[in-house]
Amino acid sequence: MRDISFKPWWHDKVIYQVYPRSFYDSNGDGFGDIRGIIQKLDYIVDLGVDIVWISPFFKSPQRDFGYDVSSYLDVSEEYGTLNDIFELIEVAHAKGLKVMFDLVLNHTSDEHPWFIQANSSKDNPKSNWYVFADGKGSSGKKHPNNWRCDLQLKSGWQWSENRQQFYFATFLPFQPDLNWRNRELKSEMFSMIQFWLKKGVDGFRLDIFGAIMKDEKLRSNKFRPSIDPNGPHLIDKRYTLNTSENFQLAYELRAKCDEINPQAVLIGEVFGSDKVLKNYLGENSPSSISSSPMVDGVGEGFTTPGLNLVFLFDFLTFKYSAEFFRKKINNYEKQFPDPLQPTYVFENHDRSRLMGRLNNNVDKARNLALLQLTLRGVVTLYQGQEIGMENTYIPLKKAQDPIARDYFYWIPEVINKRITERLNRDEVRTPMQWNAEDNSGFTTAAKPWLMVNSNYRRLNVFYQQNDPRSLINLYKNLLDIRKRNKAFSGSLKILESENTDVLVYLRNYQDQEAVICINFSDNPAEIKIESKKLIFSNNDKCCYADGLLKLPPNSGVILANR
Ligand code: NOJ
Repeated sequence: MRDISFKPWWHDKVIYQVYPRSFYDSNGDGFGDIRGIIQKLDYIVDLGVDIVWISPFFKSPQRDFGYDVSSYLDVSEEYGTLNDIFELIEVAHAKGLKVMFDLVLNHTSDEHPWFIQANSSKDNPKSNWYVFADGKGSSGKKHPNNWRCDLQLKSGWQWSENRQQFYFATFLPFQPDLNWRNRELKSEMFSMIQFWLKKGVDGFRLDIFGAIMKDEKLRSNKFRPSIDPNGPHLIDKRYTLNTSENFQLAYELRAKCDEINPQAVLIGEVFGSDKVLKNYLGENSPSSISSSPMVDGVGEGFTTPGLNLVFLFDFLTFKYSAEFFRKKINNYEKQFPDPLQPTYVFENHDRSRLMGRLNNNVDKARNLALLQLTLRGVVTLYQGQEIGMENTYIPLKKAQDPIARDYFYWIPEVINKRITERLNRDEVRTPMQWNAEDNSGFTTAAKPWLMVNSNYRRLNVFYQQNDPRSLINLYKNLLDIRKRNKAFSGSLKILESENTDVLVYLRNYQDQEAVICINFSDNPAEIKIESKKLIFSNNDKCCYADGLLKLPPNSGVILANR
């Protein structure tokens, strides 16, 4: 067996995602900002996480709240200055926290000076920096091919009056896709990435990375009805998603990062089958510490690995049952064996809060915390998850989120309210609930940029910090155990359980063992389990004596051999 003491620094670490606009407002203008994050670094460190991932703060018209960059080397005014971000990196490091940026490499804002120039004519120095193509038909105004935008609801081609051509936008029309085949653009982007690495950034979350390299010949996708996490669609994405050139780009990106910092971690927002996802990784080859070749058939002949991690998004749409998690974990253990690391995510700034999927049941949330923080792999938490922040209902017509405004504004609220997924992403981005003061202590402004959930007086950090039985203290305890108990850096094996509603798995490193038992049912459960010590439970009524474990409904424990 491979010696897992030989492991990269990010192995089994915990990432905490900060959405800057909604985290903490230091200057009372109603928007969260970088100095606000600096002021709250102690809070993040005290939670016990290892890495802070900051959603984009780069200069941007904020039409997609930073995922529409207009300069990668500048900071959006409402968030602060370049010096603030340099200071953030320095202070975080001094506190032992790693810093991960969010890189949007697929597209920029249409207000980026590069696009303004590229779009101005067919023959300017940057004319080829974006994906432009001639239209079809006698008028030249028919789309160049059948490529859809990411959500598949419309064509991704947008008309450029100046050029009498189309440009392609995978996401929204104001986010034109960059042309990574253009050498100058590519070199500019790599220099930008190296600039941030030199400034000490420890890694990057890569926004819709799988979409960057589209088919050079612009071949149309094929008719193939299917359902993916974005919903049903009729044509596949073979020429627009996860192309072999895209895997190649992952490799090149890795190499460019290695020139500055081989330890930098790259984590991809990529969607696809496990087989596809693994093409982005280097099986048997944790890239930052080893240059061993990839396993046959993976990586299409690359000799060094690409990304270090890819998010596994299945838990975003979890079914709350032992069976669901047993199946998923078994599969991921098979597909992503050590040294690959699964990357489990329950929440992010795009999808429903997990509380929304649990009917705001805190016991169930306590079970998911126990699960997520005892699994093998890298964990990602989203700000507010640690206090059980809930979705904040905001009607689609009042949305600031461009997706809701462009695509879903027509959906009647009676239907919207009944959908588990939140179509208006504002609902999961409301300000962090720090305390019971006005606007949850997020801002001193009369009005924050987005409303605060009205439950903040009972659901906030301050209140929970003072309650030893709160969700936040549960997260902190689990993060502490995860760090201290070596079993959690070892293997994972699902064990048979006499009660199928109870998920049981073993974590093991050398002679250290931990067995996690989680009852996902609304009924109490009893299981026999060989003599161990109860070291943690998420419910005071769990009890373990004489080899018999008694679990109240929706509760769980960690048993250990020492
Ligand atoms: C994925 C990001 O998570 C989302 O917030 C953003 O709108 C799109 N990519 C476009 O960049």
